[in-house]
Amino acid sequence: MTSHIQKVAQAAYKLFSRLGSDLKVSPSHEGLSEIARLFSQLRETDVFEPNSKLLYRDKKLLPDMDEHEAPVTYIPIWDDKVLTLCMFILKKGSRLPMHDHPDMYGFLKVLHGSLTITSYSPCLDPSPPLPTSLAARFKYLPVKPLGKKTISASDDCVVLTPESGNIHEITAESEPAAFIDILAPPYDSEGRPCTYYSVIPNRYSDSNITYLIKIPSPPDYWCNEEQYTGPDFNLHDV
Ligand SMILES: [Fe+2]
Repeated sequence: MTSHIQKVAQAAYKLFSRLGSDLKVSPSHEGLSEIARLFSQLRETDVFEPNSKLLYRDKKLLPDMDEHEAPVTYIPIWDDKVLTLCMFILKKGSRLPMHDHPDMYGFLKVLHGSLTITSYSPCLDPSPPLPTSLAARFKYLPVKPLGKKTISASDDCVVLTPESGNIHEITAESEPAAFIDILAPPYDSEGRPCTYYSVIPNRYSDSNITYLIKIPSPPDYWCNEEQYTGPDFNLHDV
């Protein structure tokens, strides 16, 4: 029997493998909607064993998180030139710092607990620049703030595109929170690197524009890696 995770992964692989790695051709709206529909139906039990140690061992650590434990667990599921499928488990209060998804499509589905996502879109139109004195000090990126949204396992997946919502910070609001990501095309250190950002607080920001600067990976963020234990599948046969 085809597992639900396999169904979603196959649908995404079919759509994105036809487009080539540079995505010069955009995926169809119908194709993206179908992946979002299937992904929104994915549940914790589709990918984690009952009482999975990966999820439930964290409860024992709360509220006093062991300072030596990584705040985030990364679980790779699939990664090739077409797409990345992976999961993250965040301990309470931990976060994936603000980062981008350059020229990528992304689907994020909460599987356990709840998360707050603060999102921004790239400014596609020429945007008002910072005054020269500030611009000289910072190599800044103007972005459009989309606000904060708290989502839980009962909510539909979040979809981001190269034009919308592809810079975000993700914070765990609950007991361990877990989510699963489909990213296409995948990150690539040469062409599509993952960059971290911080907001430049200044009086020129408003509800339409925020200025970000690139930062190194913040010291409060690091991951340990665990093995995926859900249903097996192979997308190369799709
Ligand atoms: Fe992300």
